Amino acid sequence: MTKQWTVPRGTHDILPGEILLWRDMEDKARRLLATYHFKEIRTPIFEETSLFRRSLGQTSDVVNKQLLELTSTQQEGFALRPEGTASVVRSYIEHSLDQHEGISKLFYIGPMFRGERPQKGRLRQFHQIGVEAIGANTASPYLDVEVIMLNVELLSMLGVKDFRLKINTLGSVQDKENLSGVLRKMLQSHRDQLCEDCRDRFERNVFRILDCKNQSCRTIVVHLNMGHGHLSEDSQRYYGELKEILRSNQVSFEEAPGLVRGLDYYTHTVFEITQASLGSQDALSAGGRYNNLVAQLGGPAVDAVGFACGMERILLTMPAEYRSKEDRLTAYVIALDGRVFPKACQLVRRLRMAGISTDINYKASSLKSQMRSAGKAGSRYVLILGEAEDKKGVLALKDMTTGNQQEIREDALISFLNCQISAHQ
Ligand code: HAM
Repeated sequence: MTKQWTVPRGTHDILPGEILLWRDMEDKARRLLATYHFKEIRTPIFEETSLFRRSLGQTSDVVNKQLLELTSTQQEGFALRPEGTASVVRSYIEHSLDQHEGISKLFYIGPMFRGERPQKGRLRQFHQIGVEAIGANTASPYLDVEVIMLNVELLSMLGVKDFRLKINTLGSVQDKENLSGVLRKMLQSHRDQLCEDCRDRFERNVFRILDCKNQSCRTIVVHLNMGHGHLSEDSQRYYGELKEILRSNQVSFEEAPGLVRGLDYYTHTVFEITQASLGSQDALSAGGRYNNLVAQLGGPAVDAVGFACGMERILLTMPAEYRSKEDRLTAYVIALDGRVFPKACQLVRRLRMAGISTDINYKASSLKSQMRSAGKAGSRYVLILGEAEDKKGVLALKDMTTGNQQEIREDALISFLNCQISAHQ
């Protein structure tokens, strides 16, 4: 028996019935991003593995456990991108984008890959809408707020309701060092209760213990009294200003002192937007500042801030009324007999050239069966051409919604259909 292939676990086909929803989401996002002056960038879906190791951190789960590496005969190691920030920064440096404009406001929409254990909202191939604002002198809490507000507006515009914005600060690189020390002190007495991975993380990257999913580690972590004592005065001031600006813009937020994010590149502001209906994978979107990453990857010393939303998770939260209807076919042409068939085909071609979606059944069959095909195709109108109509230079036009039928002159057809299309848009 022939093997039945199925879509790989943790991935999904986006079928024609869902595609309008995806296109709609992408179109709306693109329009909003343009109003914030973000420009689209498209980078390859794979990069050198070392780029991800260096940017996201050797000890992050994304690098340590979830990188989907491409094995090939080539020496160099490549991996499918698990996120977009590293690639955008690589491209920013490679093309010296810092020399073209003061600040590069870039966005991307596309698939990301992580070798995770699949569950609801957690996939191996998923899609993100991400933004990155990179440039000298961009270390302003106003820009952080712009990016956070863009994220909030994007989710609202896409129809997501009841989400919560959580913010925190990690401070500068030095502050993060201090925080590591504070965390080690707090966790020292619990070391034996930590999972094996976290005992290793204790030495190598104590932050990662805070986002460990293991229950025994979670129990310890939720009782930690996380504060901002590790922050320098400058970092405290920056965080204070950020909160002030958020408040003055009526953006509601919660402070989450335990929020450190699972990737190593963050400094200062970090944030996450969650929605309870998603269950355990409740993060719709996440981001923050990464003032050291560009220099760390060999680029200029510029600051940066960004976020990425998970598109599948957005769809999971969507109210049914948001879901757009399928693209409707405008016209379905039926030739009543073989003699008028070539003329019917010419008509199809003329309508398509006029931008009107049109289809025809190439297999000769009865009017009844062709009407059935038109119904299945979801066409708004059926155009019937028989010998009698041909002689008169008309077509029988049936409105499939009302059931009404009328004759229409061939030369009036295109403008009539165009009027109907614009009335329905
Ligand atoms: P992240 O938190 O790893 O951050 O991912 C951002 C969002 O992608 C998550 O909030 C979630 O909605 C979605 N996501 C992540 N993993 C999965 C998965 N396995 N299945 C489904 N959805 C998923 C980043 O990727 C950073 N690059 C964000 C960023 C941009 N920070 C600064 N700039």
